[in-house]
Amino acid sequence: MRTIDWGNGRIIAIEQTLLPGELTTLEIDTVDQLIDAIGRLAIRGAPALGVAGALGVALAAVRGGDVRAEALRLRAARPTAVNLAWGVDRVLAVADQGVDAMVALAVEILEDDVRRNRDLGLRGAKWLLERLDGPVNVQTHCNAGALACVEWGTALGVVRALHEAGSLGHVYVDETRPLLQGARLTAWELAQLGVEHTVVVDSAGPSVIARGLADVVIVGADRIAANGDVVNKIGTYPLALAAARAGIPFVVAAPESTVDLATSTGADVEIEIRSPAEVGVPNALNYAFDVTPADLVTAIITDERVVHGKPLG
Ligand code: MRU
Repeated sequence: MRTIDWGNGRIIAIEQTLLPGELTTLEIDTVDQLIDAIGRLAIRGAPALGVAGALGVALAAVRGGDVRAEALRLRAARPTAVNLAWGVDRVLAVADQGVDAMVALAVEILEDDVRRNRDLGLRGAKWLLERLDGPVNVQTHCNAGALACVEWGTALGVVRALHEAGSLGHVYVDETRPLLQGARLTAWELAQLGVEHTVVVDSAGPSVIARGLADVVIVGADRIAANGDVVNKIGTYPLALAAARAGIPFVVAAPESTVDLATSTGADVEIEIRSPAEVGVPNALNYAFDVTPADLVTAIITDERVVHGKPLG
């Protein structure tokens, strides 16, 4: 089942807030419904947001709305993952060719996501197995799996490719407070794949690394700045620090659509601050993402290339 899809002139998406208890889908007929789903993280994860942005502009066109105004609203639904604006802008760029052209491009972006993430997963597994002896034990954070894309996944795409090659050991999953994308979503995906895994509280992640339980940290990204700084779910940075201290690779797996050459450094990225209610106390400062400096990143693996700790271009 796809995380997000297009059918009969509407968007169909897995309702991620109810997982793992309930697997249900949303049928999205309006841009308002889509913005609501993005805002409450029913649709989430950078590549899935890119596809949602593309399909959202197509949806606005199908409904006969003011496509440019709707595109602006969609772009603003979440600020950090550059993929959302990327998907919106790509489809908006063909607006003068008519509704059918916009829908066709949005569906092409959706199909392309699957192919690109499979390529990325295979490239990542190959790169790791050239450097590490299997079975490879992995630490990951948040959810960079099929649920964050159309299918397959980025960081979990690499994990899947290792698993299929018979070279995967154990996977340690940070629970990923406050919305538990690791404990709820990544653990659910890994269980379905038959991958041995353990959930740890976020503050235990660096200790898993210090104890030598993980051979590599693999995470996704919401935005990669031109200097190689990586913006990802809050709690990624401590893993990178621990990996550097332990001398294990810290690997970022993300499609090219997550690379933002227009943004010089991680400090230039708007970090979403979400409601304290998600944390459960009124005075919480709920940053949703953090910045891992480029010098802590061993490699960035995309669907087209492997970049080793140097500026992107
Ligand atoms: O707030 P979320 O759940 O959208 O955050 C998702 C992440 O931080 C992922 O790690 C990132 O988008 C990469 S998904 C392939």
